[in-house]
Amino acid sequence: MTAPTDIKKGLAGVVVDTTAISKVNPETNSLLYRGYPVQELAATQPFEAVAHLLWHGELPTADELADLRREERAHRALAPRVRAAIDLLPLDTHPMDEVRTAVSVIGAIETAGIDSVLEVGGSPADNLARSIRLFAALPAIVAYGQRRRRGLEPIEPRDDLDYAANFLWMTFGEEADPVVVDAFNRSMILYAEHSFNASTFTARVVTSTLSDLHSAVVAAIGALKGPLHGGANEAVQHTLDEIGDASRVGAWLDDALAQKRKIMGFGHRVYKRGDSRVPTMQAALDTLVAHYDRPDVAELTHALEAEFVARKGIYPNLDFPSGPAYALIGFDTLTFTPLFVASRVTGWTAHILEQAASNALIRPLSAYDGPAERHVEGYVPDA
Ligand code: ACO
Repeated sequence: MTAPTDIKKGLAGVVVDTTAISKVNPETNSLLYRGYPVQELAATQPFEAVAHLLWHGELPTADELADLRREERAHRALAPRVRAAIDLLPLDTHPMDEVRTAVSVIGAIETAGIDSVLEVGGSPADNLARSIRLFAALPAIVAYGQRRRRGLEPIEPRDDLDYAANFLWMTFGEEADPVVVDAFNRSMILYAEHSFNASTFTARVVTSTLSDLHSAVVAAIGALKGPLHGGANEAVQHTLDEIGDASRVGAWLDDALAQKRKIMGFGHRVYKRGDSRVPTMQAALDTLVAHYDRPDVAELTHALEAEFVARKGIYPNLDFPSGPAYALIGFDTLTFTPLFVASRVTGWTAHILEQAASNALIRPLSAYDGPAERHVEGYVPDA
């Protein structure tokens, strides 16, 4: 068999569809959500407004933001069936598995009563409403996961707090300092959307079969969990814990590179000269370092970045500053990737809506390179 010459392993460089949701431009190192630079959104908007932008294409008016907040606040509480499902899981279940399971349970509840696969896809209005409810429900799920592992009861949401402040309230049971809320809100905005990354593409593949929104999100969570994608923010913290101190960076890197280890939080499929989101998240991390008076965190991260960039010319991605930022806020390391889920669910669902609106089944081809045709011994064809 002649080897096909046009295989794009990992779909690298392949443009599979158009999208109006975000534009990643590695040449100018920019990321636009619906035309707006993500840095400007992170500096000025509450996360709810960015969610609206991703779903609708425009930033909300004051009335639209109030409507979204009303709906979001109405669905913040941890649903009893969802809590019961999480409580069935072993205490040492990885929180990404908890979140995946919880979204699956929510999907089953949302689509209960639908008795034909022909109807599971839902109307655009159904799917927008489901998206908002899922966005609203995820903080309680992530927060409860961390609290359950610490032997603590869930905390009821607070109607007087915005999304980011309420998320921290439900996790820690105390009102966070505005500096911390701002850094957390920025991280949620930066993680929200990034065109056809692996998890978003997964969600679009599932949607393209006319399956339902929650099945697409469950599949996307599975894709995000891997350390080459969202799992890297957790992995960054393991790396920092392993190194321990800025003075050990050189020796640690010698060893890690000799073992051909990938250094988590560095490199990107699209950005080859630095991730557009890093300066904004780095500034948020710097603010947290000052707020919590933890210069050791800055020293270690700066030392690792400087040494790795000098040696390999590979730059940090968003997970590099966000991992230690989440650790400073008080999130358990295992909770970092679920935080990514809580944010990216906005981008995923915007893509699900977009895919459904002009659908084509996503079904690529493969080049077979297995054994040539052969036959089962003793097989006699029917006469
Ligand atoms: N550490 C060490 N070497 C690296 C790293 C890294 N973090 N990233 C890339 N390289 C090297 C590869 O080993 C490879 O070297 P080679 O050509 O000598 O074999 C070369 O750079 C190209 O790397 P690929 O993995 O082929 O590039 P690709 O575009 O497929 O991968 C990826 C991008 C998966 C993100 C990669 O850089 C990586 O594994 N990084 C670590 C995981 C990570 O941080 N993921 C987060 C992604 S961003 C996000 O989800 C917010």
